[in-house]
Amino acid sequence: MSQKEQYTFCDAEKEIQINKYDTPTPWMNYLSNGTFHTMLSQAGGGVAFYKSPQIWRINHYRFFHLPTDRSGFYTYIRDGETVWCPTSEPCAAKPEQWQAAHGMGYTRYEAKREGLAVNALYFVGELENCLIMHLQLKSDTDKKITLFPYVELGMMEFMRELQWQCYNKHQLSCYNREDILIYHYAVENQPKPDETPLVYFAATLPAAGFDCDRDEFVGSYRSEENPKRVEEGHCSGSTLYGGDPCFALEIPIELKAGQEQEVTIFLGTAMTEQAVISAVQHCREQDFVKRSFDGLKQHWDTYLSRFSCEMKDKTAERMINIWNPYQAERNFQFSRNISYYATGTFRGVGVRDTAQDILAMIPFDTKRAREKLNLLFTQQYQDGHCNHYCFPTEGWDPVTRTHSDNHLWLVMAAYHICLEEGELSYLDTQVEFYDSGRGTVWEHMKKSIAFTVSHLGERGFPLMLASDWNDMLYRVCTKGKGESIWTSMQFGTVLPMMEALAERRGEDGRLYREIYEAQNRLVTETAWDGAWFRRCITDTGRMIGSEKEPQAKIWLNTQSWSVISGMGTPNQQKTAMDSVYRLLNTPLGIKKIHPAMTTDYPSKEEALTCYNKGCGENGSVFCHANTWAVIAEAKLKHADRAWEYYTQLIPANAQKYAGQWRYKAEPYVYASNIFGPESDKFGLANVSWLTGTAAWMYIAATQYLLGIRPDWDGLIVDPCLPAALLPVTVHRRFRGKMYHITIHQNRKAKIPESALPECWVEI
Ligand code: NOJ
Repeated sequence: MSQKEQYTFCDAEKEIQINKYDTPTPWMNYLSNGTFHTMLSQAGGGVAFYKSPQIWRINHYRFFHLPTDRSGFYTYIRDGETVWCPTSEPCAAKPEQWQAAHGMGYTRYEAKREGLAVNALYFVGELENCLIMHLQLKSDTDKKITLFPYVELGMMEFMRELQWQCYNKHQLSCYNREDILIYHYAVENQPKPDETPLVYFAATLPAAGFDCDRDEFVGSYRSEENPKRVEEGHCSGSTLYGGDPCFALEIPIELKAGQEQEVTIFLGTAMTEQAVISAVQHCREQDFVKRSFDGLKQHWDTYLSRFSCEMKDKTAERMINIWNPYQAERNFQFSRNISYYATGTFRGVGVRDTAQDILAMIPFDTKRAREKLNLLFTQQYQDGHCNHYCFPTEGWDPVTRTHSDNHLWLVMAAYHICLEEGELSYLDTQVEFYDSGRGTVWEHMKKSIAFTVSHLGERGFPLMLASDWNDMLYRVCTKGKGESIWTSMQFGTVLPMMEALAERRGEDGRLYREIYEAQNRLVTETAWDGAWFRRCITDTGRMIGSEKEPQAKIWLNTQSWSVISGMGTPNQQKTAMDSVYRLLNTPLGIKKIHPAMTTDYPSKEEALTCYNKGCGENGSVFCHANTWAVIAEAKLKHADRAWEYYTQLIPANAQKYAGQWRYKAEPYVYASNIFGPESDKFGLANVSWLTGTAAWMYIAATQYLLGIRPDWDGLIVDPCLPAALLPVTVHRRFRGKMYHITIHQNRKAKIPESALPECWVEI
């Protein structure tokens, strides 16, 4: 089947329509109201959770097991002897006609078999904490059918389930109360038992039967594909007080030819039985589904209207207007917690990752950005360093490793909040320190700088500590001496921000300039290798990222960040970026290092990486790092190259180039990495959805290619676009006003803050 037939983008609806259920990997969507969440595939597989997938996960999703993408949210239709599902999976009998579509916060399925058409709409609305599965049925002939909505429940604490389920499963109960199935997870030593909700399952039509015991419903040596009770046509009425729970309903429906019938199923959470009953009553109200869905549509239309563009390249336009900001919002919400690739078992809120996600939230909602950044500042110690991950929902202790970069990202995010707002009030916000006391955001930021100043190595670069942005450099500084040249550049990026803020506050910013100049001298003299900047220095003084080294001679980040930080000479920066083009670029994006390492580098004892060549962190196209190369080329005013770097990584373009059975991941959201040319699977995309690529590619596209950036007293327009693409029009909401900017040429201009609610500008 050709790619065109496999999926179609429908930009007017902000949807991707998927025409065949068996995509190379599950293609996911995230449905969420901020409290109740569902990750859902094009084939109905996925996982729901309340607040945290670590401690309040609702159903089983079997990571890495075959078949992949099980279990999920299925409604079996028993029509005569045939059993099928509108989601296509998990039955062997498939719909004769079928399409799924992922949209902004919803997924829908259109299916038809033996004259019965079903439209199923899945979403999570604002009005209740539940997954709403709304089915419209229409038959060509009179039919008597039975629906069996089904969800396989799990223990809410997935990790403890893996270890302790043989005992703890006897502490679960699942039962029917007034035509609502309720699951009660009350396991010894669970975290936050008082905040653990009941889970409910209910429908808008009366049920003739139910099951709460999974094994009773499915039967032995069977699976979701062919549950015994569905085959038999009736549920068994099982309750469960100890065992493996599920929710299953039996809903008989009589359809008259041509007449539409609706039924909605709700999988939700509430704290008490009474609250469950009230929630379900609310859900069953006549217009509940419509009100919830209208609210969701409205929310996303408003959200995305804050920035949009019109340009000739419709693939890029679609990314900028729809999918990239949508993905960035999901990253802001979920950090790197749970995806098809990440099991949602140990990662809470990563300080480094979330601080970067905040950057892309700032143009949309500085209130949300401030709240999240405040949380990250609570992870900072009085000496200025930060915890690495924290678990505010689970209440677990944070991961306390000290990395050289975490605290500096906080400075960058705070600066950009001020710049978006055009004033400094955020800096006066009081936030607790993790170890003791509290201080203003400005005091926190100054401590970030002080920490790096007091943790410089022998040569004067910041110590690498547990690692910098690149996790894989965790062995560089095990003896406390290894230094990071990239962190020096990150430092060099935030120091001028501190200088600008200090001066606006009427304080002396010269200190920051002096530190910058000292670091810049080091970068220019010590870090320069001849044709690019080196990457770091190990405990034993070995320069990683040098022509003299046998492997990993050149690393992308120190080239792009020399431009971002303005460090090194202009000639060095240009030469470094030319080396990137020459040695690291591929038609599918830029490799992070070249050549990839083997396992004995830099020594047998201290393998810097265990990844196979071309995979993951070792010589793959690391998409997150590509974003900085786009920014760097735009800053150098290399419009064609910047655009090439940007467009080659647009998922639909990369997928087209690699072929979808090689690329595999979703063509609408960025992946973390794509196997590089040193792998025999060059072009295979991995770890899609939750990646820093989303935030930074959005920034690269909107602030450096389109070039629309906030300034203290207006908007800067500093486009860097290929001539063939012009003109381009941008609509940007800024400090409560709407700006409509048509760009005819790559010329830097300043738009003063408008006095009127709408402002039209031609550049
Ligand atoms: C993924 C991690 O989530 C992120 O924190 C890190 O910066 C990159 N890998 C690069 O190592």
